[in-house]
Amino acid sequence: MAHPPFAILILAAGKGTRMRSALPKVLHKVAGRPMIAHVLAAAAGLKPTHTAVVVAPGMDEVAAAVAPADIIIQRRQRGTGDAVAAAKPLLGRFKGDVLVLYGDAPLLTRDSLKPLFDARRRHPAAAAIVLGMQLAEGGPYGRLILAADGSLARIVEANDANDAERAVTLCNSGIMLANAAILFDLVAQLGTANVKGEYYLTDVVALARARGLACRVAEGNAEELLGVNSRAELAFAEAVMQQRLRYAAMEAGATLVAPETVFFSADTKIGADTTIGPFTIFGPGVKIGERVTINGFCHIAGAIIGDDAIIGPYARLRPGAQLSDNVHIGNFVEVKNSKLASGVKANHLAYIGDSSVGEASNIGAGSITCNYDGIEKFRTIIGKGVFIGTNASLVAPVTIGAGAMIAAGSVITDNVPAEALALGRARQKTKPGAAKLWRSARQAALAARDKVKPQGKPKRRKR
Ligand code: UD1
Ligand code: CA
Repeated sequence: MAHPPFAILILAAGKGTRMRSALPKVLHKVAGRPMIAHVLAAAAGLKPTHTAVVVAPGMDEVAAAVAPADIIIQRRQRGTGDAVAAAKPLLGRFKGDVLVLYGDAPLLTRDSLKPLFDARRRHPAAAAIVLGMQLAEGGPYGRLILAADGSLARIVEANDANDAERAVTLCNSGIMLANAAILFDLVAQLGTANVKGEYYLTDVVALARARGLACRVAEGNAEELLGVNSRAELAFAEAVMQQRLRYAAMEAGATLVAPETVFFSADTKIGADTTIGPFTIFGPGVKIGERVTINGFCHIAGAIIGDDAIIGPYARLRPGAQLSDNVHIGNFVEVKNSKLASGVKANHLAYIGDSSVGEASNIGAGSITCNYDGIEKFRTIIGKGVFIGTNASLVAPVTIGAGAMIAAGSVITDNVPAEALALGRARQKTKPGAAKLWRSARQAALAARDKVKPQGKPKRRKR
């Protein structure tokens, strides 16, 4: 859809009191991404001329999260109308519409806004178009009160509504498309005669009407317009988002054996014909190739996985894990900040951290790269075709040359050249017959003790 030039203004300065959190509300995450980043992503798809975000003083983290959008500081949080008024110096002379969005609506998509722009085409003279939604139970949402001619007469907040108004099912999503000049003119005239004592943006509708300017309603999809004000609503938004991401992954050609048990991040990328087993969690920054098998119960974040790899069950891939094609990672194996070339296998109980492992090398069960000395981290370099035996400790910094073998149970502190066999363990002593001798000596000693025991009441033998 092509629109005339318009600017986007996202309100994000609110205290978010109902979250009971030290973190600004809009930074709470849905699918691993701050709520406001979801709003920005939906907005970016519309190609606005400007994007600006209203924040409170000290909300540096919010400002950082929305870069490169313009930042507007609302000095005191006196309501949504006051937040819009704070944007006047930046957008007051803008020729066109301002699209007002709220930073606490993470389920918004570009399509959610289509009805709004369609309505604008039908009503080019309207002062503002408000995106409404039908809700059987409007709860805390503002109610849209229509005039006899179908235009929007006013918006009444739930707290200020009488019973008849509260029964109205057409609710305010908070999203509004308004002519910039009229909008900034009207917000300058808002009062605070309401239950909360705040400057309500919603009151611009009645102000416009009093001036003979019409406002209109467009109807959107209620599920996409949810506003998150509490932790319970955050969990609800997460559930809806996960449903969307699971569906998108399957549409893109992945098999999800038990979709309801798989949790994605908004940026998870999965190739075709990859299968994901039950109870797998994806943190941010995961990219998976084609025909990969992720067996169940894996935790994967910040990792890249090549084609045809087999992962898990019960594997943990942490940030910086880069696995080439055909890598096999088995149960209880953890990989962090390490590059594994194609065909590497680590099938059982291993830790590979700050390492690089060459093609087709095998990491034995229970082997560990000792990458940390309590102060600093060091790298382990393992060449191609290396065999690391069971339960080896590779004390970094250390390099194992191509084709080398590390004997089981070794503690390796020195570099091992290519094709060498390194043993770093105590030498075994075997004493023939000694087990049998030890057992008879022990049994004789116990028998002698029982004999010298005084007669009388039978006593239980203590061991
Ligand atoms: C608002 C609407 C309500 C609508 C609902 C939709 C008003 C008065 N009410 O209510 O009609 O149904 O959204 O979700 O607008 N903010 C600021 N500065 C402030 C206050 C708020 O930037 O001084 C920001 C908040 O960070 C938030 C957004 O504005 O992102 C909405 O504020 P919030 O307090 O959540 O409004 P609601 O009570 O949900
Ligand atoms: Ca809200």
